Amino acid sequence: MSIRAVVLLGAPGAGKGTMAEAVCAAGPWMHLSTGDMLRDAVRAGTEVGRAAARAMERGALVPDDVILGLVNDRLAAGPADAQYLFDGFPRTLEQARMLDAAFGRDGARLERVLLLEVPREVSEMRLSGRRVCGACGATYHLINLPPRAPGVCDRCGGRLEQRPDDSPETVGRRWDVFHRQTAGLIAYYEQRGVLARIDASGARDRTVAAVLDRLP
Ligand code: AP5
Repeated sequence: MSIRAVVLLGAPGAGKGTMAEAVCAAGPWMHLSTGDMLRDAVRAGTEVGRAAARAMERGALVPDDVILGLVNDRLAAGPADAQYLFDGFPRTLEQARMLDAAFGRDGARLERVLLLEVPREVSEMRLSGRRVCGACGATYHLINLPPRAPGVCDRCGGRLEQRPDDSPETVGRRWDVFHRQTAGLIAYYEQRGVLARIDASGARDRTVAAVLDRLP
């Protein structure tokens, strides 16, 4: 297996999903979002979905073994020479170590970690205005990226919804969880020399250009 991967790391609302969508639309990268995979599992009512739902509603992390199981299944089902953009994974030191161990066994390479940096007020503004298509998953923002017709997806005509974990209270908890449980990864990847910092607080196109510029 010669899988290559780049991690998009950042607080809630930093723009990980938005950057991954833009980059994957333009090139060979495949988007792997553990948040999207978990939401699919919740909608499908699978065992994983039932195990994850409560943690997600509270803005807490889903247990590492559940996440690793999902990611391993996805990698095993994909092409052996795929290039992945990991969005929201790994999210704990334990997940990072387990990823290293799995990649070490399989000859896969984690080539870079792009840290998308935004201040808290930008994250809160983005998440309070985020709307997502319930049918195709396309993401909008009421101010920064509004749909052509209010409440309706440009791409498929589906209805736009607010994510349940985008309430102000849960956003606050997710921000704290990021700093308590995920921010330790910054030093971990910095020490390994694979971390690049990107100011992700500016306009979407400028941030996409910065991400493209730093991809291996
Ligand atoms: P997940 O879905 O990964 O949520 P998150 O990390 O909190 O990130 P978000 O999706 O909220 O934000 P984003 O950075 O992708 O921003 P986006 O591009 O959408 O995870 C959800 C939950 O699942 C977690 O809380 C946890 O419970 C669980 N989970 C997931 N992975 C896990 C793991 N590995 N381990 C354990 N648990 C896990 O942008 C936000 C808004 O801003 C959009 O409206 C967008 O249009 C707008 N926007 C984006 N960029 C810009 C820009 N540059 N300028 C203007 N507007 C912008």
